[in-house]
Amino acid sequence: MKLAFIGIGKVGFALANNFQKSGHTIAVAHNDVKSESVQVALAKNPAFVALPLQAAVDQAEVVFLATPFKINQSILEGLNLQGKLLVDCTNPVGPGISHGLNSAMSGAEKVADWAPSAQVVKAYTIYGFENLENPIFPSKEVKPVMLVAGDHAEGKALVQSLNTDLGFDTLDVGPLSQSLHLEHMTLLWVKMVRQNGHHPNFTWAYLER
Ligand SMILES: NC(=O)c1ccc[n+]([C@@H]2O[C@H](COP(=O)([O-])OP(=O)(O)OC[C@H]3O[C@@H](n4cnc5c(N)ncnc54)[C@H](OP(=O)(O)O)[C@@H]3O)[C@@H](O)[C@H]2O)c1
Repeated sequence: MKLAFIGIGKVGFALANNFQKSGHTIAVAHNDVKSESVQVALAKNPAFVALPLQAAVDQAEVVFLATPFKINQSILEGLNLQGKLLVDCTNPVGPGISHGLNSAMSGAEKVADWAPSAQVVKAYTIYGFENLENPIFPSKEVKPVMLVAGDHAEGKALVQSLNTDLGFDTLDVGPLSQSLHLEHMTLLWVKMVRQNGHHPNFTWAYLER
């Protein structure tokens, strides 16, 4: 599939690189294609192409948002995302690893407000970038799980298929409003790993009987 990445830093590059290796085409979306993160990404994976934001979005089947949350509004309100699947990989993080919107609503719902013509799916936020760089674990029976939320079944199904390409199981946790709980899971993971010494390649798994 044709994927566009707005944001090609730690999260964006890890995802884009693995998607490219599993056969997808990557456009890096940035109005300053000379920006350092774009140049580093192109040097690390020469199969990527860099395009201005709207041009990258226009040619993409799926658009990934992997930018600092505080700039999301200005980016999204300047774009035409009509009919696009927009995967929100961002998290609003406040002081002391708190929820950046004071848990009043999820960042993903804000993203949907700023991009009303897109179908927004929240994914790839419950772990640090380390698990996006390498989601492969030795067990054949139990895979790491990626939790996704969104109001559009087709969009979530598409993200599920992309997740499978990366090596993740997918757990659909329901509508986009569930993203608030995913964002709290992020805070839990970040505090466990960045503050309390848990391994950055630990993940959650889904077992059912
Ligand atoms: N780090 C993690 O482990 C992790 C895990 C899950 C989710 N997240 C969330 O994912 C998001 C990205 O985190 P990150 O750690 O990947 O950040 P990062 O390494 O700082 O990368 C941010 C990317 O956004 C780009 N960007 C900034 N302004 C832009 C603009 N106007 N147009 C296009 N691109 C622009 C940056 O490009 P420039 O070089 O030009 O600034 C850079 O490529 C954040 O919301 C974060 O909360 C992070």
